Amino acid sequence: MSGVNEIRSTFLDYFKKNGHEIVPSSPLVPRNDPTLMFTNAGMVQFKNVFTGLEQRPYTTASTAQKCVRAGGKHNDLDNVGYTARHHTFFEMLGNFSFGDYFKERAIELAWNLITKEFGLDAKRLLVTVYHTDDDAFNLWKKIAGLSDDRIIRIATSDNFWAMGDTGPCGPCSEIFYDHGDHIWGGPPGSPEEDGDRFIEIWNLVFMQFEQITKEQRVDLPRPSIDTGMGLERVAAVLQGKHDNYDIDLFRALIEASEEATGVKAEGEHRASHRVIADHLRSSAFLIADGVLPSNEGRGYVLRRIMRRAMRHAQLLGAKEPLMWKLLPALIQQMGRAYPELVRAEALTSETLKLEETRFRKTLERGLSLLNDATSDLHKGDSLDGETAFKLYDTYGFPLDLTQDALRARGIGVDISSFTDAMERQKAEARSHWTGSGDKATETIWFELKEKLGATEFLGYDTETAEGVIQAIVKDGVAVESASAGDKVQIVVNQTPFYGESGGQMGDTGMIASDHGKLTVGDTQKKGEGLFVHSSEVSEGKIKVGDAVVLTVDHNRRSRLRANHSATHLLHEALREVLGTHVAQKGSLVAPERLRFDVSHPKPMSAEELKVVEEMANEIVLQNSPVTTRLMSVDDAIAEGAMALFGEKYGDEVRVVSMGQGVRGAKSGKPYSVELCGGTHVSATGQIGLVRILGESAVGAGVRRIEAVTGESARDYLAEQDDRVKSLASTLKVQAADVVSRVEALMDERRKLERELADAKRKLAMGGGQGGSADAVREVNGVKFLGKPVSGVDPKDLKGLADEAKVSLGSGVVALIGVSEDGKASAVVAVTEDLTGRFSAVDLVRVASAALGGKGGGGRPDMAQAGGPDGAKADEAIEAIAAALAG
Ligand code: ALA
Repeated sequence: MSGVNEIRSTFLDYFKKNGHEIVPSSPLVPRNDPTLMFTNAGMVQFKNVFTGLEQRPYTTASTAQKCVRAGGKHNDLDNVGYTARHHTFFEMLGNFSFGDYFKERAIELAWNLITKEFGLDAKRLLVTVYHTDDDAFNLWKKIAGLSDDRIIRIATSDNFWAMGDTGPCGPCSEIFYDHGDHIWGGPPGSPEEDGDRFIEIWNLVFMQFEQITKEQRVDLPRPSIDTGMGLERVAAVLQGKHDNYDIDLFRALIEASEEATGVKAEGEHRASHRVIADHLRSSAFLIADGVLPSNEGRGYVLRRIMRRAMRHAQLLGAKEPLMWKLLPALIQQMGRAYPELVRAEALTSETLKLEETRFRKTLERGLSLLNDATSDLHKGDSLDGETAFKLYDTYGFPLDLTQDALRARGIGVDISSFTDAMERQKAEARSHWTGSGDKATETIWFELKEKLGATEFLGYDTETAEGVIQAIVKDGVAVESASAGDKVQIVVNQTPFYGESGGQMGDTGMIASDHGKLTVGDTQKKGEGLFVHSSEVSEGKIKVGDAVVLTVDHNRRSRLRANHSATHLLHEALREVLGTHVAQKGSLVAPERLRFDVSHPKPMSAEELKVVEEMANEIVLQNSPVTTRLMSVDDAIAEGAMALFGEKYGDEVRVVSMGQGVRGAKSGKPYSVELCGGTHVSATGQIGLVRILGESAVGAGVRRIEAVTGESARDYLAEQDDRVKSLASTLKVQAADVVSRVEALMDERRKLERELADAKRKLAMGGGQGGSADAVREVNGVKFLGKPVSGVDPKDLKGLADEAKVSLGSGVVALIGVSEDGKASAVVAVTEDLTGRFSAVDLVRVASAALGGKGGGGRPDMAQAGGPDGAKADEAIEAIAAALAG
């Protein structure tokens, strides 16, 4: 057996053979722990199984767990590169018993694996036990046949293992390998124990207790086992190496970095290559698990690791970004065991390149400042904190990078003046706080942000996580606790809840501790970095410091995701259909619908909307993966990402790409590429269906599209369908015939309307002749038909007058229609031969005056007017007769 990959699988196969469930490594960002920065041991994912809080379908398990120790209780960052065995990232092989076997079987399994499967020489092995643990002592004697002098009792915390300040813990027993007397060092517990001869390879923890608080420790429900073997260490032993960095995996990474820089890993350059190889692993694994470089929390630890490696790349004389070039070598080594590395390759590569490109811009100037500031310093001196702070603030040098850079010269950094400088800057920033609206309530968020740091958002990768309540604000004031019925705003150190931004509404859900529950109705971002959960205490009591489980309303979040992704697809489709003048002017991503406003000068046609909808759905049906990368704004825009003009972006932005273009310039390229901090589906198929409801105007040159997706689209369509069905049943036809039936009904109705109007007209004119003989008289030698008519639509009066003209042959017609509310409309018609003598316009004005109206208009042969006083219809007719009489 030789390679790291083979050793890993031999270990897991061995425990599988011995009845253990093989469980995949959990992510580096612990989901089930509120306080732990990174997963730092194999047992982290089983923490709640040990304490009995969580049940699993197995009682024994084995894992190869990825771990990061850089920040928090276990932090090895400072030593990496300069020692044979420190790493920021490493793999821990472990076997676990949850109340199944205990010490005896654990020792037996371990001993058999290392001496039989791994074939290590028993004579080179020795063990430690906790000083009071006689059981373990006797078992080692019995099972391994070790002599008393090779079972060493240790009284210190070295043989009592704890995950962190709280959590499962217990006495432990460590197995050491003797690399031989050619290396200086003594067995554990001896004055020379810090030497490198005796190396711990496996730690067996006899989990018996749970540390509840610093003071309180209780028994676990059942004694359990947690073991941890550093894969890199055991590989070194099995490969006959003394130094972890000489194992096959590290050789491959270091060779890649030697090749890329043209500098051998010798002399002063050895440490640099090691730093780069180690930090490449932690950076790539952290990015693959959703951590991105930032100035807060986990992101800042990642940034420190990356920049530390990047300074060493610069020391090796790299002229351009180096780290991303080594990524393929890492994936070659570890991609099979950890496919997430392969999946995140593009994101990791971009992130490494971007960070290094940006950092290189200030690195040289920072280093030359550092050189100038330290030219007079000697071994044992300290650099002043002001300079270290300037390097941090202006040149982006994390403090540990500055310390690392001075390490070789034995120069330290004055930490207390560094902290003072940092405090001064914070006070300065405080004086610039502004609060929009209610200033007092806004200020509290800035204060809390400064005190607590930014909330870490975990919601891109998970909808549930543990956290610790850091602040409770009630009526604008920070309080220590709240109880049932209280409406409060809650800040937690980390959260999966999305805070409203970029049009996407904040998440809702539950926050629960052992003693109380909160219903979260909304989440907002405040104070530049805090996520504030607006909640009501629905049960019990909660207080600052409580460990809580935060659970986002999954269904609502899924809908939000689908709607947000749909806005991206619609945006692109709108640009394709309407033109590239289309820019986003606003959006609302709610769970049940979405609204998307764009610049476009005129209403969209039904056909345009249809095509836009078809295009969006084409990408939905592709079910292509949605990818997210972190880039500089400039690079993102150079890549064609759509950014909102005038929007404030940070230095780095998330770039969300979805779909494969199928036509035109986009063909074969990502369909939609946008800068976006929102949450999205992981594949377009999860949108289900995009249905545009309509389009409207929201202002000059801005159109609004409203649409639904997924379940809401289905509900909408079901409703439409119900409507058609009920229509069909009312019309007594098949659904497919509804339209033709309605058209037929409309035709019929028009015909009936016509007939009805005809009939009314005839009735109005008093019989079937179209004119009524008794109403015709001669005035001044002219035939005059003057008649009030009722029940006729005013718009039909002209038609009636025309007909009357025809039947008179020559003469003047005056019809006064009176509507139900008593208003009159008058029409006067003059036959062609008489228009020289009488104008219909003049005559209708006479009628109008009689009806209490004013004016009237038309042509000499036909004119119309109105008046309020329908009761005067007869008088109006007589007035016209009088006018004809002259
Ligand atoms: N959890 C134990 C360790 O990390 C095995 O050493």
